[in-house]
Amino acid sequence: MQTTRLGRTGLVVSRIALGMMTYGTPKWRPWVLDEDASRPLVKRAVELGVNFFDTADMYSAGESEVLSGRFVREFCRREEVVIATKLFFPVVMDPKTARPGPNTQGLGRKRIFHAVDDSLRRLGTDYIDLYQIHRFDPQVPVEETMEALHEVVKAGKVRHLGASSMWAWQFAKMQDAARRHGWTPFSSMQNHYNLAYREEEREMLPLCRDQGVAVLPWSPLARGFLAGNRTAADKSAGATSRAQTDDLAQNYYYRASDFATADRLKAMAADKGVSPATLAYAWLLHQPAVTAPIVGASKLPQLDDAAAAVELRLSADELKALGEGYEPHPVLGHA
Ligand SMILES: NC(=O)c1ccc[n+]([C@@H]2O[C@H](COP(=O)([O-])OP(=O)(O)OC[C@H]3O[C@@H](n4cnc5c(N)ncnc54)[C@H](OP(=O)(O)O)[C@@H]3O)[C@@H](O)[C@H]2O)c1
Repeated sequence: MQTTRLGRTGLVVSRIALGMMTYGTPKWRPWVLDEDASRPLVKRAVELGVNFFDTADMYSAGESEVLSGRFVREFCRREEVVIATKLFFPVVMDPKTARPGPNTQGLGRKRIFHAVDDSLRRLGTDYIDLYQIHRFDPQVPVEETMEALHEVVKAGKVRHLGASSMWAWQFAKMQDAARRHGWTPFSSMQNHYNLAYREEEREMLPLCRDQGVAVLPWSPLARGFLAGNRTAADKSAGATSRAQTDDLAQNYYYRASDFATADRLKAMAADKGVSPATLAYAWLLHQPAVTAPIVGASKLPQLDDAAAAVELRLSADELKALGEGYEPHPVLGHA
């Protein structure tokens, strides 16, 4: 497995990060795997050389962090691995029925101090390698958030800071506040980027390249859509549990031009003798700003497909052909 540095930091990460949202409890989402089903996947990822694990406090209402910490203790040396987690959303099993109390979400100072301690306890570790804000919080002054995040770094609870989906101006505003006050800036941007959703190429990716910020694309396969096994006609007839029940994917990507992208990908993958998933990851890995896609895997061969992408070289013509016919989307995934 190739490794690289996280942006301009000294932190060494594998070029594939394992997305831990798939592991936790199916009580949270029907396609999530429980502990016993998850364990072999995480073990295999470690065997393939993955040292970078991305979770969030909200995934499976904390159970994903519990399993992430447990699997790291079982399969890894703590000093070698990079544990990334996130805060912002309320930590609840069912967002439709939950009534989150005051200060249990967002990026206020009080919330940040509680959230980091809760994540450390669930992960069973003394420090978080990469602590990411899951979204921008328009209710809280950016100075309050950036100072509190800096303090958790200085307290030794967090090594590096990262952010996730937001407008580029919001990210620039937070970075500027940190720099003006001598606080820790963000080293990474985890954003929504894949062959079927490329709106980040307008503002966020050039900003990250210019500032040396690592880009960690989430949903690199468009929540499985780019694997080519989703069907337009009957959404509930998809090939897997996630294909049938992941309504976010069905809202985000099921347009005619998205199916055309998936078809182009499938055709080129067949020519090259690789899976569509491998080719979709390889396209991302060739984009200049990208450090490591965050891979979601529910079956063992899917991890081999991801690892193969790191070794796959694509020509400029192939990269261009994969992107042809892309139609702009409304901005998705900031809220
Ligand atoms: N920051 C954010 O706001 C945010 C948002 C979303 C996700 N994330 C992060 O990104 C990670 C990945 O997200 P994601 O799960 O949506 O990623 P994804 O890679 O786009 O989708 C993963 C799904 O693709 C399918 N798949 C994977 N490899 C495949 C292969 N080789 N062949 C066929 N199908 C394959 C699987 O679906 P089946 O189960 O149907 O086989 C799997 O569940 C998460 O775990 C999380 O850490 C972050």
